[in-house]
Amino acid sequence: MTERTFVIIKPDAVRAGIVGEILSRYEREGLGLEAIEMRSIDGDFADRHYAAHLERDFYPPLREFMTSGPVVAVVVSGPDAVRRVRTIHGATDPAEAAPGTIRADHATSVRENAVHGSDSPESAEAEIALWFPRG
Ligand code: RTP
Ligand code: MG
Repeated sequence: MTERTFVIIKPDAVRAGIVGEILSRYEREGLGLEAIEMRSIDGDFADRHYAAHLERDFYPPLREFMTSGPVVAVVVSGPDAVRRVRTIHGATDPAEAAPGTIRADHATSVRENAVHGSDSPESAEAEIALWFPRG
């Protein structure tokens, strides 16, 4: 059963020039890339994407970071895609991320951690509908 998940390559990773390096990791694991778009988001859009986190202490600086430069939005698909992508990403805090994960290799802090991956198939579909409303 194919599942879809939603990835954001965050502004730190775009600035570091590792978009291709990150995309190649999903492909190497046999996952598919269904849609890709580079764009910049404003604070209101960040609020919609992070609706679940709006009241968290970490949200205001996260909002600032996510609107600090272009991001790459990606729909990734394959069996168990949500879980597999989060495994490829590693733990939120790079100090806790398993060796060889994107965050272990590239994140510079718990905030500037290179990538976002949906946390469930339901949130993946909601995020894809927000970011790619036409399909
Ligand atoms: P993501 O949503 O980006 O895939 O990351 P996640 O599930 O591992 O982490 P989540 O709890 O959903 O947090 C979303 C993003 O907020 C930033 N964050 N900063 N203590 C902090 O300063 C803190 N905690 C979280 C990170 O950018 C995290 O990815
Ligand atoms: Mg999350």
